[in-house]
Amino acid sequence: MKISKWVVREHVEGAPDVGRVYEKVTEEVPVDLAENEMLLKTLYVSVDPYLQGIALDTPVGDAMGADSIMEVLAAGPRAAHRPGDLVQGFGGWQSHVISDGAPRLWQTGTFPMVFPAYRRLQRHWYDEALPLQTALSAMGGPGMTAWGTLTTFLDPRPGETLVVSGASGAVGTLVGQLARLAGARVVGTTSSPAKAAYLRELGFDEVVRYRHGDSAEQVGEALDRAAPDGVDHYFDNLGGAVTDAVFARLTVGSKVAVCWQWATQVGREAVGPRLLPYIMFPRTTVRGIFSLEWFTEANWQALHADLGDRLRRDEVVCDHTLHQGFDAIPDAYASLYHDRTANFGKVLVAL
Ligand SMILES: NC(=O)c1ccc[n+]([C@@H]2O[C@H](COP(=O)([O-])OP(=O)(O)OC[C@H]3O[C@@H](n4cnc5c(N)ncnc54)[C@H](OP(=O)(O)O)[C@@H]3O)[C@@H](O)[C@H]2O)c1
Repeated sequence: MKISKWVVREHVEGAPDVGRVYEKVTEEVPVDLAENEMLLKTLYVSVDPYLQGIALDTPVGDAMGADSIMEVLAAGPRAAHRPGDLVQGFGGWQSHVISDGAPRLWQTGTFPMVFPAYRRLQRHWYDEALPLQTALSAMGGPGMTAWGTLTTFLDPRPGETLVVSGASGAVGTLVGQLARLAGARVVGTTSSPAKAAYLRELGFDEVVRYRHGDSAEQVGEALDRAAPDGVDHYFDNLGGAVTDAVFARLTVGSKVAVCWQWATQVGREAVGPRLLPYIMFPRTTVRGIFSLEWFTEANWQALHADLGDRLRRDEVVCDHTLHQGFDAIPDAYASLYHDRTANFGKVLVAL
């Protein structure tokens, strides 16, 4: 059968130039499944900022990895899933996948990790209120990242202030809404006026305008107005100047969750102020976030019971920006880095 995939053609640092990085390849592939293998058809593909690092670590000529929702078309007798099952896993930018769906070691130059086994999506979990694509947003990685961080680490309380940088995306919108439901005062950053209005609609108390390149002084002045009593909890999606400004405003007993560092990873800002003195007197706890550690069956059940129910009750909103068709994948991904104005919530591609 014909299988199309986007392969990595070149390693390019910085904000991805998708025309250079990716190439579409269509191949005639024999479908001769081993006993434990499956042929899967990709239904939805996720595009995420962290794929920038994955692309740099993907050997040239290999298919681009990414989170996806797939339907099993055929399966060997000892395969983990049966034809007709829906699964979520790291299937990548491919029209079809032949795989055993087992956990896969990703030995990058920086940090080894294991992509989890394909997980079966229970059909009764999804309906009009919680459509299937939420398995890549609120009921998937971004949801687990936000919910996992708040339930196991940040734990914001009434009267406390939580700041989330890069607040308008899939993770940030959920972090802000969940913190608000917990009674905290919530401040988010975005670079766009339209998204500032959107964050206020979602219940954010204050919005700080921040774009890569702004100085820590500029952000600091805005933060002094938005969070006059300092920052008790910081969920960091961006790093750089916004993080420098927040660290200078941390309160006693504060907590910082480091989810991503756009400024270093993409913006290549390797040097900044020394931040450790800022955590000494406030006795701040800083924790790196690695959401895969929460990808357990028990946590998926708990995520559906807790965040899923809040979505069904309209207490939490999870928006999607849906692109259409296999050929749209690289441009959908590029939209996370370049012109982001049309992106609200989770960006996905329906194949
Ligand atoms: N550590 C982990 O385990 C883990 C798990 C999941 C996700 N992540 C990472 O967490 C981050 C957030 O994920 P997401 O799914 O919410 O991403 P997303 O939907 O793409 O949102 C990204 C956010 O970053 C902001 N942003 C992007 N480029 C920027 C720039 N040049 N200057 C200022 N702001 C910029 C966007 O701001 P605008 O409002 O201006 O568009 C948006 O609010 C990502 O980097 C992702 O890779 C980490």
